[in-house]
Amino acid sequence: MPDQIRLLVVEDVPQVAQYIRGLLNSQSSIKLLDVVNDGSRVERLIAELRPDVVLVDALLQGRIKGMALVEQIHRSPNRVPVIVLTVPQQPVATGVEQGIHGVLSMPFTGYELVTRLQAVYQAAAVADNTGTARMITVFAPKGGVGKTTIAFNLAVGIGQLGQRVVLIDGSIQFGDMRAVLKVPLETPSLLDLPTDRIQESDLQDVLWRDPSGIDILLAPPRVEMAEMVTVRDLEKTLSLLRRVYDFVVVDTPAVVNDVNLAFLDASDTILEVVTYDSTTIHSTMVMADAFRMIGYPPTKVRYIVNRADSQGGIDPAVLERALGRKPEYHVRSGGPLVTNANNEGIPFVLADPSAEISQDVMRVAAELVGRGATAAGHR
Ligand SMILES: Nc1ncnc2c1ncn2[C@@H]1O[C@H](COP(=O)(O)OP(=O)(O)OP(=O)(O)O)[C@@H](O)[C@H]1O
Ligand SMILES: [Mg+2]
Repeated sequence: MPDQIRLLVVEDVPQVAQYIRGLLNSQSSIKLLDVVNDGSRVERLIAELRPDVVLVDALLQGRIKGMALVEQIHRSPNRVPVIVLTVPQQPVATGVEQGIHGVLSMPFTGYELVTRLQAVYQAAAVADNTGTARMITVFAPKGGVGKTTIAFNLAVGIGQLGQRVVLIDGSIQFGDMRAVLKVPLETPSLLDLPTDRIQESDLQDVLWRDPSGIDILLAPPRVEMAEMVTVRDLEKTLSLLRRVYDFVVVDTPAVVNDVNLAFLDASDTILEVVTYDSTTIHSTMVMADAFRMIGYPPTKVRYIVNRADSQGGIDPAVLERALGRKPEYHVRSGGPLVTNANNEGIPFVLADPSAEISQDVMRVAAELVGRGATAAGHR
């Protein structure tokens, strides 16, 4: 159960709206996002406010009537569970296949309202426990192959495509993003998120709002603080971020430990950075075995060749044979553009959008966003 269930109410009878507000005022487990009286605004509001549950009055009047709205929400890509509010004279049956996840008959008490909301939320969470965001973890079993560079630029690239993006610096010990962005030492990190009751409002104080348009959750400022990051808190943080953003991108260090596995487990896609050299190939194959043993489906991992145009490495065909398939993405070398951009803490996709490397990364961003839309449509 989250700390707060986000609720949107669609009710055009002011007295009923007032009654519901009153019931919810005295408790903290439900966050009332808004009460709207016009059914035609609801689809847009769902996309904007991202409620967990919508309460719809079956008797709603106006351009879109109550039950037509329930059906519209059920068919929409931003589908959310709906509780139908009705009166005893007009009974409505619960039917998840019809998009009716719960029914409340008037009059009801605050206790009934809250428990029904929790039950519906929980049932929906079991059916789809991933939240709405797509989570992409940029990983490699080998250091220095370009994980941080790719994660930062890819996150900004996805942001450029109109998605709300949070980048998590998962290199908990050394905080690679702190180095890139040169943020002041006292800039908060994921350790500053409360762990007992994390709420959306806490994010405002802790996230670094980067000029590049994305939000960044930084790693702790000092090495020894890494030990304070627990998998349990991390999972809570991830589930909150996944409800607030469209994309969660994680930069990771080249290690396999509890924290990194928590990122990898929670991801929809592991973007594994490879390069054309023999040590990378070896570690990539060891990792592929490990992923198989953990039980990740092969489609969860997508390979991205960095510095794909660099000479003197091994034959691309050797890499392909080792991976058992063609790598999904390629990013060329960016030369001084990359070094300079990294030094200044600016993503190269913004510093020079027309550069080949920027276009390579934007292609990956566009493909991932496109697949995200398809995945959401099937939910
Ligand atoms: N495509 C590229 N073209 C040019 N330089 C690159 C490219 N990718 C990475 N670099 C450079 O390579 C170096 C290492 O990159 P980066 O820090 O992103 O790797 P990493 O995998 O995150 O390393 P670590 O394992 O230490 O976290 C940086 O100096 C970066 O500027
Ligand atoms: Mg790094």
